[in-house]
Amino acid sequence: MKIITVSSYEEMSRQAANRIAAQVISKPNSVLGLATGSSPVGTYRRLIEMYEAGDLDFSEVTSINLDEYLGLDGTHDQSYRYFMQENLFRHINIRPENTYVPSGVAADIAKECKEYDARIDAYGGIDLQLLGIGLDGHIGFNEPATTFQTGTHVVDLHPSTITANARFFADESQVPRKAITMGMTAIMQAKKVLLIANGPAKKEIVEKAFYGPVTPEVPASILQLHRDVTVIFGET
Ligand code: GLP
Repeated sequence: MKIITVSSYEEMSRQAANRIAAQVISKPNSVLGLATGSSPVGTYRRLIEMYEAGDLDFSEVTSINLDEYLGLDGTHDQSYRYFMQENLFRHINIRPENTYVPSGVAADIAKECKEYDARIDAYGGIDLQLLGIGLDGHIGFNEPATTFQTGTHVVDLHPSTITANARFFADESQVPRKAITMGMTAIMQAKKVLLIANGPAKKEIVEKAFYGPVTPEVPASILQLHRDVTVIFGET
């Protein structure tokens, strides 16, 4: 595991984007596992700049997102599909049909979960998985628990996650209580994992996750068992 500490959000974003760009350049048909939240916004901005400068081509890339709120469809401005459209997809030449985000409104959610995992398998797994980290150590929406659910599944969001994500909604009551998330298997089977986090509020959980014991109570700590993980922490 490589843990890189940099001074700022901008530097974190620059280094993360460079790593994703290297992946796409060395394997143009890469399968990228993508994340939402405030952490990856700057990384996506830099990838867009590289695309606009003619340095990156996403035409053969496939993207598979980690998670989605249950009950929000892609037109809802807090859905993760909408986030991805606005922060990345509509600015680059990735083919819309090659972008996958779990559906939070599928009629049969159990079937959606199964199909999501089957799709990841059909692509041969994820080449590079980008992750943020929740204040409680969640990755995707894999919340602290005594055991992990391994496949894509529905989760009850932790109260601390609901509070943390309320900043994006009109008020806390609007935050969905459930989400659909890729499970730990697909994340752990990704060939490379790149986790980004920044700011003093994330320092404690980053230390716990990567210097503390491996436990489902801190989901990101499982990454200590992965053979190719890079963590980039921006101090501000
Ligand atoms: C959400 C997402 C996670 C993300 C986390 C941290 O709960 N499901 O994938 O990593 O928030 O978000 P932020 O980067 O805004 O702190």
